Amino acid sequence: MDRIVVRGNGPLNGQIPIAGAKNACLTLMPATLLSEEPLTLTNAPRLSDIATMTQLLQSLGAEVTSMQRGKVLAMSSHSVSNLTADYDIVRKMRASILVLGPMLAREGHAVVSLPGGCAIGARPVDLHLRAMEALGAEMDLRDGYVHAKAPGGLKGGVVEFPLVSVGATENALMAATLAKGTTVIKNAAREPEIVDLAICLRRMGAQIEGEGTSTITVQGVDRLGGATHPVVVDRIELGTYMLAPAICGGEVELLGGRMDLVGAFCEKLDAAAISVSETDSGLKVARKNGRVHAVDVTTEPFPGFPTDLQAQMMALLCTAEGTSVLEEKIFENRFMHAPELQRMGARIEVHGGTAKVTGVERLRGAPVMATDLRASVSLILAGLAAEGETVVNRVYHLDRGYEKVEQKLSAVGAHIERVSD
Ligand code: EPU
Repeated sequence: MDRIVVRGNGPLNGQIPIAGAKNACLTLMPATLLSEEPLTLTNAPRLSDIATMTQLLQSLGAEVTSMQRGKVLAMSSHSVSNLTADYDIVRKMRASILVLGPMLAREGHAVVSLPGGCAIGARPVDLHLRAMEALGAEMDLRDGYVHAKAPGGLKGGVVEFPLVSVGATENALMAATLAKGTTVIKNAAREPEIVDLAICLRRMGAQIEGEGTSTITVQGVDRLGGATHPVVVDRIELGTYMLAPAICGGEVELLGGRMDLVGAFCEKLDAAAISVSETDSGLKVARKNGRVHAVDVTTEPFPGFPTDLQAQMMALLCTAEGTSVLEEKIFENRFMHAPELQRMGARIEVHGGTAKVTGVERLRGAPVMATDLRASVSLILAGLAAEGETVVNRVYHLDRGYEKVEQKLSAVGAHIERVSD
């Protein structure tokens, strides 16, 4: 099994290109099931989660061809020949539930394995199922599978979410494009990945208004066509690499970075005394001498501070001057990086969904264990700021969501390498 070895070093300088968004690509790919015509995604990230979604779509009868070393995904679903998303694939990746809406909308029938819990919390799929019911589907849970049918096709309706869910909004949006009549999605998620999905679906011929706000209106159409769509830049990869110079000092330009994708995060960096500015090619982050300031952070749905940057922000705050309070409001079990950071000398107290972090002058390198994707990269960031060597084990988590992390960080001067047994 691979490990990442990081040696703490001084300032980082240079440029890091930001890839297309994993979480946008994972919802754009199932959109191919909505149409007989080809859907081509450009700017796709090269990640193991994308390979898993490719495998799932192929198991359902879609053709998925990866071109330009994975940067372009050419997909085509002349027919959906298998209507069962099998447990063996779904259990690997929760985003597999995103095939439910498209299959049901196109074929009037879908069987999808329940994904089960995951490291960061229980993560039920009840909201996805309720959305399909609001569009006229009948749902039955049997043998660990969701059996969904809408014999006469889906019908437009009002989908009102009791809490904001990115995935359930995506499923509802995709399903509504082919439902008869008008669908109104209330309390919709406003994440940039939803906006990207709506833009792509419109390119395929869908009639959608209001994406990026909490009410999305969809006028169903009889069929969708093909399209070519560039995947939006990954705001979480962007925020993660913005933290590298914030933690180590120096000045790094994030190519393709956009302020509108990371507004709430930039406000916290500013409060921590990290400077962020826009350039012609992206965003530039610089940290002057002296320790960063402590800041309090609460995770929220977009446009609030993203839960997917909480672990990385905690790594920064471990060496801040003063005490920071981090509140995790999206997932109930997303502080598993805290005990690993403590192994590196961090002072963190966790009580339920709140972590109190009192900054220390310097972290110390240690062997640590990655527990999920964002936790793994937070340990790498902490390692960059630590004295001595940090060995991050179980890096398969990292490969789900960060392409070429060692190359990207070494290019700006970090001491990082992957070691295979
Ligand atoms: N929830 C329910 N019922 C549902 C769906 C969600 O109770 O049917 C709850 C969840 O348990 C959670 C909250 O609602 O407490 C929000 O979950 P959401 O549905 O928004 O999350 P998701 O769609 O499963 C996506 C990202 C996550 C990211 C969250 C929040 C993808 C593939 N995943 O998950 O990304 O953390 O939105 O922004 O888009 C990651 O990339 O590391 C990652 C975990």
